[in-house]
Amino acid sequence: MRFVAAIDQGTTSSRCILFDQSGRVAAVDQREITQHYPRAGWVEHSPTEIWESVEAVVAGALSRVDGEVVALGITNQRETTVVWDAATGEPLHNALVWQDTRTEGLIRELAADGGLDRFRDRCGLPLATYFAGPKMRWLLDHLDLRERAAAGEVRFGTVDSWLLWKLTGRHITDVTNASRTMLMNLTTLDWDPLLLDALGVPRAALPEIVPSSAVYGPVTGLPGLAGVPVAAALGDQQAALFGQTCFEPGEGKNTYGTGSFLLLNTGTTPVHSWQGLLTTVACQLDGQPATYALEGSIAITGALVQWLRDNLELISSADEIEPLAASVPDTGGAYIVPAFSGLYAPHWRLDARGVIAGLTRFVTKAHLARAALEATAWQTREVADAMVSDAGVAFTELRVDGGMTANSLMMQIQSDILGVPVVRPTVPETTALGAAYAAGLAVGFWSSLDELRANWKADARWTPALAADARETRYAQWRKAVSKTLNWVD
Ligand code: G3P
Repeated sequence: MRFVAAIDQGTTSSRCILFDQSGRVAAVDQREITQHYPRAGWVEHSPTEIWESVEAVVAGALSRVDGEVVALGITNQRETTVVWDAATGEPLHNALVWQDTRTEGLIRELAADGGLDRFRDRCGLPLATYFAGPKMRWLLDHLDLRERAAAGEVRFGTVDSWLLWKLTGRHITDVTNASRTMLMNLTTLDWDPLLLDALGVPRAALPEIVPSSAVYGPVTGLPGLAGVPVAAALGDQQAALFGQTCFEPGEGKNTYGTGSFLLLNTGTTPVHSWQGLLTTVACQLDGQPATYALEGSIAITGALVQWLRDNLELISSADEIEPLAASVPDTGGAYIVPAFSGLYAPHWRLDARGVIAGLTRFVTKAHLARAALEATAWQTREVADAMVSDAGVAFTELRVDGGMTANSLMMQIQSDILGVPVVRPTVPETTALGAAYAAGLAVGFWSSLDELRANWKADARWTPALAADARETRYAQWRKAVSKTLNWVD
């Protein structure tokens, strides 16, 4: 048997999945990543632990099959920023995770001159703590690295870059990950001098930008895969779009993980957003023009369920949320807006913090469990509406993937709140599958996009069961709850 291996290095865990020619999962291994919260709003990962977890899951997955791995693809949590010593390869600090808000002061300073959207025309992104460039700037300032970075003694990268360095010894990043730094020009697909200057990041410390699907070199840093061509890297949300075979303009998907990310393929031209969406690179196959996407990024969805479990201890395992929420017909008028790290798309409000609104003596933990699921669905509705305004296309159905799609009640609520069918494919591991597809295409394991498209099959479908007027009344209540989160942080 021949397989393509995908490493999916996510926010909460690392996974290695081996896929066969039909795109089916042949083996999987997974390991959790420790979350470090040194202060309120700060979130860090250990780059060494990330790498060791990757070594472990690759070995674990390989031990479960007999056969040959023909290519390796990487997909990763995006924006999370690693800095390491060019000579020793040792990390110089913990990775700053995408949810980390420590750059808030810097963002306000930069926005004072021209507003949050001052760089949007170049990089497609608003100024926000979310992106990697401001995190690099924080590391440069706080570790006093400016001179060393300018001299090429320090290397910065997002998680793809860190793993590619460990695997191949090359300091490279794929174009989808580079599009999340605020430093790459969306048209030239190169580091933009004006953005580098504004954020104070020296080019000498940055990786070379490469296509998402191309042979980067053989594995040299991982004995189990020695010599296997590393042939793809994509940010996890772009990988999920690819794994859902959304290759054509107008095709899109929503992935439910720690946060949720709704991406719509807009073809080979970047579409500017007026509604608070991001313009991002969707993929670049070797020797071909890049394709772009509009993205609605929601910071907290699945993480709200974890918060109910770990911080409020309302449930003891994430699986309990579904039966608890199903034990009541509605939320009893309660709404949870989980603006834990401000609000991302479409609002982009640094000053927002979470609220639970509409509480009465009637509200029970079951209502709150249901409100947590609804929060995911309402936030998705907000970004889907923004997409209709920006791209002029309405979803006729929504392709979904990610952990929360196992929750049937959640998917029914999503369909009710969007008013369109929600469809889950047979292979729910879409993120890893996308990275495998991109790697397999680069080495000729798969011959065409059509061959990949033929692998996609629907597994489950939920259709709207809520009357339109009830949906819109509750949406108005949700928006009122969102308004209560604003202007919290001065
Ligand atoms: O932009 C952040 C995103 O890439 C994280 O995804 O699935 O690791 O929560 P996930």
